[in-house]
Amino acid sequence: MVGVDLGAPAGAAVERLAAKIATARRALFITGAGVSADSGLPTYRGVGGIYEASLTEDGLPIEMALSGGVLSRDPATTWKYIHQIESACRGAQPNGGHRALAQIQDQLDALWVLTQNVDGFHAAAGSRNVIEIHGNLQRLRCCGPECSWTQTVPDYAGLPALPRCPTCDAVVRPDVVLFDEVLPPAALSSLHAQLRQGFDVVVAVGTSAGFDYIAAPVVAACRAGVHTVEINPGQTPLSSLVSDKIAARAEPTLTALAVALGQRRP
Ligand code: OAD
Repeated sequence: MVGVDLGAPAGAAVERLAAKIATARRALFITGAGVSADSGLPTYRGVGGIYEASLTEDGLPIEMALSGGVLSRDPATTWKYIHQIESACRGAQPNGGHRALAQIQDQLDALWVLTQNVDGFHAAAGSRNVIEIHGNLQRLRCCGPECSWTQTVPDYAGLPALPRCPTCDAVVRPDVVLFDEVLPPAALSSLHAQLRQGFDVVVAVGTSAGFDYIAAPVVAACRAGVHTVEINPGQTPLSSLVSDKIAARAEPTLTALAVALGQRRP
């Protein structure tokens, strides 16, 4: 991995983070769409984000089109936007930021990734401890109440506009959290179990931190005096709270972090 020049303030903050991680046992990285933006995926909010238009072409706010309620009343509409999101992601690959996190994990007792991303890139890049709190687009499951059909697909090429279950003919859906839906219980209990064990370093990367369950671990860590860092070229509610704000893109920053940690090894 070659050296990465982030400029003076960001470079110094990366060095401080590397020093903390070098002596830490457990680190938590909380990631959002900004991490996958460096793979060419659109973010949800901000310039060019997929929620920037006020209404979809169907006259619904995108948050409504992508809700559990609309999926059950009008699945064709929800699937239209699911297909749009999936096709915007198709062919993209994990980037150096995902790979840097996978590389760093071997230098700690435990590095956990709490991600809102549904692209599966952290696990694909080799991260072992990943909590996909919003699910995963590649897993499909049947909406039928009595049916347990599931399938993992590489992408949605070849899927019909409204996919149906081969077993019971009910509508199929991606195993992701839609608006107005509850978080997956297994992911949530894994998150709570890890938070109970505590972390020595908490880093938020590429997320607008709009959800309480995303911001709260960072806020709690700040209050407990734990070293906290935000990596994000934009401002979020966390920016003024963290120990260090790194206003830079995820991929070069995480790559620089892995390099800095590599240089610290005996
Ligand atoms: P957002 O789109 O809300 O925020 C993306 C963040 O990434 C912004 O703060 C950007 O400034 C930042 N960003 C953009 N490019 C970046 C880069 N190259 N490196 C680092 N940061 C960058 O995405 P999330 O916070 O992930 O949920 O959004 C959370 C959830 O909102 C999504 O999981 C989705 C959506 O509603 C559901 O669908 C349930």
